[in-house]
Amino acid sequence: MSCDERTTEPQFWPHGGTDLDSDEGAYLPGMSFETYRASMASFPRFYPLIPDTPPFGPVMEIIQQGNEFDTDQHGRGDSYRVAQRAPDIRLHGIQTLLELALAGPIPQEWPDDLRILDVLGGDGTLARALARLRPYAARHRQCIMTSDLSRHMVLEALNYGLPAICQPAQHLLLPDASFDAVILAYGTHHIPAAERRQAYAEALRVLKPNGRIVVHDFEENGAVAQWFSTVVHRYSPNGHAYQHFTREELLDDLRAVGFREATVRDMYDPFRVTGPTAEAARSGLCAYVAGMYGLFKLRRAPDWQPRLWELIGEHAARLRGHEDSGMPLVRRADAGFVAVMPRRALVGVGVR
Ligand SMILES: C[S@@+](CC[C@H](N)C(=O)[O-])C[C@H]1O[C@@H](n2cnc3c(N)ncnc32)[C@H](O)[C@@H]1O
Repeated sequence: MSCDERTTEPQFWPHGGTDLDSDEGAYLPGMSFETYRASMASFPRFYPLIPDTPPFGPVMEIIQQGNEFDTDQHGRGDSYRVAQRAPDIRLHGIQTLLELALAGPIPQEWPDDLRILDVLGGDGTLARALARLRPYAARHRQCIMTSDLSRHMVLEALNYGLPAICQPAQHLLLPDASFDAVILAYGTHHIPAAERRQAYAEALRVLKPNGRIVVHDFEENGAVAQWFSTVVHRYSPNGHAYQHFTREELLDDLRAVGFREATVRDMYDPFRVTGPTAEAARSGLCAYVAGMYGLFKLRRAPDWQPRLWELIGEHAARLRGHEDSGMPLVRRADAGFVAVMPRRALVGVGVR
């Protein structure tokens, strides 16, 4: 089954199991490093990059510590993954990121040696979106390697049939000069500010000469950062006390670790959910937003949807002057209706 065909529950690997307590010592939940490594042999583009031995002690410890994206028991992992079964909701922004990584349009034909590393890749949302944009890129033609610190995210990416690896952004397990582009997106604020340069330095190390880094996040005090501090922080199980980005800091950090031609710009990065009726589109967007951000404390209220819709409206109003400002949040689209949550992100690009 190709990675863009699956819409139902993920099927866990034969060795699978998601009980964190029952698999001490395993690289992925219920899977040894050796079994993981053998499974990657079906991806000739990436297999030669997989280390022969498991991560050394301190890195394995970081991996096994887990994070809020593991499960709903530990935060909002299950709920996040259910929301990401529809990777096209963020297709606009993902396409922009891929075009920045490739310094041009996404090609129709894919060179065999072209490799992109999605460092905070979750369960492969970018790779699955690419398979929607260019169906030839699905499965074994997939040129994105999904990487994440959460073992549950990586297991899920493998279950989708994607090449994936579990590693911290600050200590990549991959060899020098092996990728054409490295993307850190949709969660770079989860890397502590004091460790971001280390993550960029690791990206520089694994990039081929002239390879590109793309760093995506949200501007400190901007509308999306306010959304995180007022809505996500209040209603999600772990809160959201993360430091976002300033343009100056992002530019300085990229230059400081050795990237040349560094630039930082705004990008438009909306959520867009379609439906046969206006109500279906609106309700689909609310379900996506509540799942993605784990707004469990809000979802307990019987009127959570109208309340969330109002919060989305207040957020959209703060984005005045942007592409979707002034538009109704639900409008007619080709095949029915589309509900939009506009978002503006910051994106930094640099060249090795
Ligand atoms: C908001 S999710 C985004 C996932 C994916 N990019 C997407 O758009 O669906 C952020 C991801 O970053 C991962 N993450 C957080 N800190 C990390 C680190 N230091 N190194 C690698 N991954 C990390 C989390 O486990 C989580 O899966």
